[in-house]
Amino acid sequence: MIDINALRADTPACERLVHFNNAGASLMPAPVYAAMTEHLAREQAVGGYEAQADAAEAMFGFYTAMAELLNAQAEEIAFMESATKAWDAVFYSLPLVPGDRVMVHRSTYSSNYLALLQTARRRGLGIDFVPSDTHGQIDVSAMPGLVRDRTKLVLLTHCPSQSGLIQPAEAVGRFAREHELLYLLDACQSVGQMPIDVQAIGCDALTGTGRKFLRGPRGTGFLYMRRELAERIEPHVVDLEAAEWLGRESYRLAPGARRFEAWERNVAGQIALGRAMRYALETGLDSIAARVQPMAQSLRERLAALRGVEVHDPGEHRSAIVTLSKLGVDVGEAKAALRAQGINVSVVPREWALLDAEDRDLPDLIRASLHAYNTEAEVMRFVEAVSGL
Ligand SMILES: Cc1ncc(COP(=O)(O)O)c(C=O)c1O
Repeated sequence: MIDINALRADTPACERLVHFNNAGASLMPAPVYAAMTEHLAREQAVGGYEAQADAAEAMFGFYTAMAELLNAQAEEIAFMESATKAWDAVFYSLPLVPGDRVMVHRSTYSSNYLALLQTARRRGLGIDFVPSDTHGQIDVSAMPGLVRDRTKLVLLTHCPSQSGLIQPAEAVGRFAREHELLYLLDACQSVGQMPIDVQAIGCDALTGTGRKFLRGPRGTGFLYMRRELAERIEPHVVDLEAAEWLGRESYRLAPGARRFEAWERNVAGQIALGRAMRYALETGLDSIAARVQPMAQSLRERLAALRGVEVHDPGEHRSAIVTLSKLGVDVGEAKAALRAQGINVSVVPREWALLDAEDRDLPDLIRASLHAYNTEAEVMRFVEAVSGL
């Protein structure tokens, strides 16, 4: 059972703000902020390298916490500077050659799709779109029919940026295993708001960011890669962290997922992200999901009852992300008007989710995203504010 008072006490901005922008960047809980600022203070006091040497245990804590959170091994985890850098590190390293084919759904995150498009052009890859089922999620039953001789990879965004959809990641994993396809899961919006088990999902690699539902600092991200796969893959860039320099003609790659890491990093960020994951584990991922999903659903229902408001979230199961539009209301102006009332949201212009927007005929969207420290009273306040727009 979540202690909501404790969560809010750890989140001082709750006193002044309704922060419904957790899918953008959440608010760091006090222990995470303390872990970050204490390390920065130490850097100032003794020097960056010296502070890092003293913080080896806390830095390692990042790998063990992430491994526990995802049901993985510490060697299967890498610290990255963002979800996009993590996703690119995997994607650009995969040994895809001309004629190979990649399966995607229209809800794929924008930057991932751009990387796919660029690589498809450079390397001559084919892209196959998996249609949606009647719930608006990836139609897993249509996937076997799309497999061709050269199909190699399945890309999925677990919870898209632009909607409340939760994709059936485990069913996609079963399909990928049956057809011996690689499976890369973008879990940027799902890690931290629900339990994620990479063994149950059956993905080969998974990527995410620190600042969203994990409530870590900005400029941090992570990747998981199944150990046997990581050991077979040459990263598309190497440095002195990713590889050991053995001689004029030789180097040895770091074991497991560490070969995707860079030497220079935000040490305070890595320590704080490790602390953020501990915080999520202490709160309980089951408990977080059990609180935020009904609260988001309650918000959807209240919004849908307002005149001129439309809620746009497809899916059989829905996340803590709620997307809406209001007839005659410009989303940029709405965001500014809400901000003036102490309510934080994001907007999703059509061009940030182009394929999804075209397919579902979406307007620009307002995105409200809830976390466990949010309350039903804040939901009511938000609905009233939307009603007044
Ligand atoms: C689904 C999804 N994937 C990836 C990203 C990119 O994350 P980052 O900005 O950390 O690279 C986002 C960010 O909004 C996202 O929503």
